[in-house]
Amino acid sequence: MTRILFYLDEPGKEIWRPAFEAAIPGVEFREYPDWGTPDDGPAYVFAWEPEPGLIAKYPNVKTIFSLGAGVDHLTSDPDLPADVPIVRMSDMGLKEGMAEYVLMTVLMYHRYMPRMLASQRKHEWRRLFPPAASDVRVGILGYGALGHYCAQALKPLGYQLASWSRTAKPEEDGIRHYSGEEAFEDFLARTDILVGLLPSTPETTGLLNSRTMALMPRHAAIINAGRGSLINLGDLVSALDSGHLSGATLDVFVEEPLDENNPLWSHEKVFITPHIASITRPTTAAEYVAENIKRIESGLQPQNVLDRKRGY
Ligand code: NAP
Ligand code: GLV
Repeated sequence: MTRILFYLDEPGKEIWRPAFEAAIPGVEFREYPDWGTPDDGPAYVFAWEPEPGLIAKYPNVKTIFSLGAGVDHLTSDPDLPADVPIVRMSDMGLKEGMAEYVLMTVLMYHRYMPRMLASQRKHEWRRLFPPAASDVRVGILGYGALGHYCAQALKPLGYQLASWSRTAKPEEDGIRHYSGEEAFEDFLARTDILVGLLPSTPETTGLLNSRTMALMPRHAAIINAGRGSLINLGDLVSALDSGHLSGATLDVFVEEPLDENNPLWSHEKVFITPHIASITRPTTAAEYVAENIKRIESGLQPQNVLDRKRGY
């Protein structure tokens, strides 16, 4: 029998049990704190931000499934067992959700929506004429599962697309790939709307700062749906206030929830969403976990295992 130890401290979490019961017939779905004891036999953890030290108390855990694509909510636990594989979420629901968010926000900047809203607040009939999509350069920072899927969703709109990632990517119609530190500046210099979809690692921390944002074209906009550590927020505010950057949409922050007194909330060029760019969807996520458990139990490697050295 498959035993899932589930941890999620969010309202509405009761939707997960039926999803797992449908994906894994006969599953023993144990929701924290009802995790039983290690003597209950082998188990899989499926969790988001579990209490530090909790998983280490269960040496019967064979694999940890991250409820999200990111794993910082797990690896921040100093007692996380070093030898238990971690499988990162990468189901269709997560990709579709992120593509929706990225399409919405890219279109918002391309079509001058923030400026239209500002005019509306002043009751001002101000007709602005956006460029053709083919004249707008969108750059995706991080070309993994989500970056790739979002690029495919943006393609039919006709933008000039580029990506930046750690390792080189094969040539692809309609998208220019940049890779490695040496190509970062060229990537920024050609990017009018930047979409951040990078994991949080020591290498990605603070990549967007006063020096690198200054390399972006004047009036460029930034959308960050990866992790908050990507951006130095003080430098971002300076770049917005000086008029160098035209706007920023931020879904993720180093400290969440964002403090209610943080001045970013009322910055006229900033849109804030509360880490909802893409929320893991129970049906597709439970099917993804079920598929990977099948692989593990037939002696195969699960998909998308965290490389702990790389950090993603
Ligand atoms: P992924 O498939 O692992 O892709 C990560 C991408 O980042 C890869 O292209 C990787 O390069 C690139 N990368 C990593 N370190 C880099 C570095 N130092 N320099 C340049 N590129 C680097 O991950 P994913 O599934 O697309 O998810 C990406 C992130 O999105 C997650 O880690 C999570 O933090 C975030 N996320 C946010 C939400 C939300 O709601 N806001 C939802 C889901 C996920 P290579 O291709 O060369 O390996
Ligand atoms: C959400 O932030 C995720 O990592 O899936």
